[in-house]
Amino acid sequence: MTCSLTSRRAVCDKVGMSSPTVSQDDRDLAQYAALLDRPVRAKVNEFQRGERLRHVIFSGQFSPPLLESLAETADMIRLLSKSRQGQDFLINLLPHKRAMLYFTQPSTRTFLSFMSACQILGITCNEVRDPSTSSETKGETRFDSIRMFSSYFDLIIMRSPIARLAESCAYLMNQVERSGQRAVPIVNAGSGADEHPTQALLDIYTLQRTFNFENPQNAQHSRLDELRKSQGYVDLTKGLSGKTYGFCGDIGRGRTVRSLAMLLAQIPNVQLVFVAPQLPKLMMRDDLRERLRDRGVTFYEVDSFEAEVDGQPVIERIDALYMTRVQKEHDTPADTASYAGIDFTRYCLSPELVKRMRSYAPILHPFPRDQHFGEIPPEIDADPRAMYFRQARNGMWIRAALLAHIFDADNQIQREFRHEFHERHRYVE
Ligand code: CP
Repeated sequence: MTCSLTSRRAVCDKVGMSSPTVSQDDRDLAQYAALLDRPVRAKVNEFQRGERLRHVIFSGQFSPPLLESLAETADMIRLLSKSRQGQDFLINLLPHKRAMLYFTQPSTRTFLSFMSACQILGITCNEVRDPSTSSETKGETRFDSIRMFSSYFDLIIMRSPIARLAESCAYLMNQVERSGQRAVPIVNAGSGADEHPTQALLDIYTLQRTFNFENPQNAQHSRLDELRKSQGYVDLTKGLSGKTYGFCGDIGRGRTVRSLAMLLAQIPNVQLVFVAPQLPKLMMRDDLRERLRDRGVTFYEVDSFEAEVDGQPVIERIDALYMTRVQKEHDTPADTASYAGIDFTRYCLSPELVKRMRSYAPILHPFPRDQHFGEIPPEIDADPRAMYFRQARNGMWIRAALLAHIFDADNQIQREFRHEFHERHRYVE
């Protein structure tokens, strides 16, 4: 593809790069502009290999059956991990695989949970977290870095502040593979303000587990029956469908909100409610709005928990609440000026608000939460609906399930699980 300087700049703007000078890094991204600029549904086949995901770039790649299958594998991994024998089985599954964690944007949970997931399955990890420690400081391009990582590793898990860099690297790997050279899967661990698909995966897994209404203390006693009969939630059903999901905070810049909203859009009969200050930077972006409309999803954009949906205040109506941090690190002076007069405490939870929520409604947050902004004060942590620490731990199990899926090890896990928890126990009985 040939491209004038002006059009490259336009392309660079489009892919989230604002630098006035056009570097080789910019040109590398620009060469995939035509591929990047397509609807997700036109791209997904390129990120598959047969029935399996090859590259993980968008949450839209996780179909409902795949979500079910990954959740099942994650449940099996967590149960197998409870015994030494199960841990030994898991750690011997993929010791021949190596993963590069290429994280050039800060991360605690995603980095550590992917690293732990690799360790559970015996995958060896290495990392580049600071480009100033890599040869990028000597002028090496990101694409050359990726080619080098693919020479030494079997998988690249990457986080970047640059929107769509992970997607471009997936195209690079496909191109390299077509030319008969070594290429490896790319997993997007967060790309600019664009997508964070594996966060959406762990969010959905957390919601799936919550809305199973299983009672860990007493498997015979259905929580769902109790909620229907004793607490008056007569229409409550098991599973993700038929629910109203609330999102609150920085809807515009929150890539986790975008990824989760697109995943929930695949579930029948859901409503989404977005609670954000009425400022363009913080409200839903047009592309997400259009994608939700295209999918026929019912959604509401409101500026307060007190706004009414279906005749009830949002805080009382929602079946689950997804809180987010206002990402002030991205603010320009003009943004800061536009905040004058906005009461941001309206976008923070309080024990009083939590009391008004449905008794089963989980509170999620991708974390980190902001101690200065206080969107979830620590007093709420002890509430049984506060799901965020369990949500973060779920990330380790579901990411292990995803790695097992990519490397075709999930069937072995299922066989071992059946052997361990069904056949063996039936024999003992
Ligand atoms: N939720 C999330 O992505 O957290 P980290 O930025 O700590 O990885």
